[in-house]
Amino acid sequence: MRKGILTIAAVGLLTTGGLTACGDDSGDKAASTKTPKIGVILPDSKSSARWETADRRFLEEAFKAANVKYDIQNAQNDKTAFQTIADQMITGGVTALMIVNLDSGTGKAVLDKAKSQGVATIDYDRLTLGGSAQYYVSFDNETVGKLQGEGLSKCLTEKGAKNPVVSYLNGSPTDNNATLFKAGYDSVLKPKFDSKEYVKGPEDAVPAWDNAQAATIFEQQLTKANGKIDGVLAANDGLGNAAISILKKNKLNGKVPVTGQDASTEGLQNILAGDQCMTVYKAVREEAKAASDLAIALAKGEKKDTGQTVKDGDRDVPSVLLTPKAIYKDTVKDVIADGYVTKEEVCTAAYAKLCADAGIS
Ligand code: BGC
Repeated sequence: MRKGILTIAAVGLLTTGGLTACGDDSGDKAASTKTPKIGVILPDSKSSARWETADRRFLEEAFKAANVKYDIQNAQNDKTAFQTIADQMITGGVTALMIVNLDSGTGKAVLDKAKSQGVATIDYDRLTLGGSAQYYVSFDNETVGKLQGEGLSKCLTEKGAKNPVVSYLNGSPTDNNATLFKAGYDSVLKPKFDSKEYVKGPEDAVPAWDNAQAATIFEQQLTKANGKIDGVLAANDGLGNAAISILKKNKLNGKVPVTGQDASTEGLQNILAGDQCMTVYKAVREEAKAASDLAIALAKGEKKDTGQTVKDGDRDVPSVLLTPKAIYKDTVKDVIADGYVTKEEVCTAAYAKLCADAGIS
């Protein structure tokens, strides 16, 4: 499946030695005369640290390596700003636009406008439902959720939990990924609720993945459950940390396994401390590289075969879906070895001994 993105579509042999295709007025060739410039709109910097610490860094790395012009901006969770940035990028001459939508409605408006102006489009990380992006580049997000469900159940077993009450902190209701994550963890946990092996506790979606709001929501969940929550399926590290902060207040941290996603510095530290059960590592460097390769090809009027599609209603969207990996205490070191976070970031003074114990040298 990954092979497809490495295959550059045949562009035809230049037999005349001519270097330009300016005389050719076919659409694709016309695109090849433009200088590639890639616009990227990131969603915010609070729902997850990844957007600024990983995506921006690895996208810049990929664009610089390809020697292509780029403009990366962050909409800071403001849908109006998102559209304004897109308009400015289109006016500013981007040949390809990559977006991480804040919701499918504004995402679609931006994609359709770009398309109407001849700008190539990519859904980066989040699929825009009913949208018009030429490619979708992400991870297998249902597998992300499955790893979370399996991780929580592994940690509950290790704690010897009997008929544990499990609560859910789902991601933003406007993020298609949140729907896919839930489908993944439901596939593991629902059969356990149905067989009464586990008890389904409170479930809430966290608007815009707002970490602060997640703490309030989790506190209400704990009250509603009379303090008896034995495991928390939190959809990412930020939501997990919010739950952990409330568990700490109630002296329950470390006793109640909590999941996460993104292998953030904070999430990895929570794992080392024993307050978080696991996280899901997504190698954003590969995601950024795949998206950058496609954006550059599109700008040149080339079409790459990704070898895979994802259904959006009736539309088959050519897609690259990378493989996520579950991380536990003993594999925190793998995330550092991969260059996603540094030892210095994770192993600060307070975590030095925990790092050494976890084999991080
Ligand atoms: C991303 C996650 C991220 C979340 C909040 C999702 O769409 O896939 O990696 O934690 O958004 O930003």
